[in-house]
Amino acid sequence: MAGKRTFTMIKPDAVEAGNVGGILEQITASGFRIVALKMTQMTTADAEEFYAVHKERPFFGELVAFMTRGPIVSAVLEKDNAVDDFRALIGATNPADAAEGTIRKKYAKSVGENAVHGSDSDENAQIEAAFHFSGREMF
Ligand code: RTP
Ligand code: MG
Repeated sequence: MAGKRTFTMIKPDAVEAGNVGGILEQITASGFRIVALKMTQMTTADAEEFYAVHKERPFFGELVAFMTRGPIVSAVLEKDNAVDDFRALIGATNPADAAEGTIRKKYAKSVGENAVHGSDSDENAQIEAAFHFSGREMF
């Protein structure tokens, strides 16, 4: 059976732009239940660990600087087929390629500052949720 949970972050660009409410509204209107939710600011060490898979990529330094420059809103979301359905809801990494009506099409500025994160597998959803939330913070 497809996984029921995914992990997301509303990234610093979208928090700065005042888009937290609009993005959460679109997420819940699309059938996701909020299982965990909080605002935090990642340290450089946090971001380097969270995005370790990208550490050899040319944009890694820029990505860590961006993700640590201000607060994020992180959440765990529940729905049947959560990982794939949420990736469809947020749209392509580059907002120029994102489908009409997707969160990145509406709120992202560029391929780097793209408003939201969505886990890419059930295994990573579990790892990422546990990175940001304790068991007592997930409902
Ligand atoms: P995410 O992990 O944040 O949900 O994004 P994604 O799967 O759509 O994209 P991924 O390939 O995992 O890249 C992670 C994040 O790195 C930044 N990025 N910048 N400047 C660039 O060419 C570039 N490419 C990727 C984005 O913030 C992207 O979401
Ligand atoms: Mg990714």
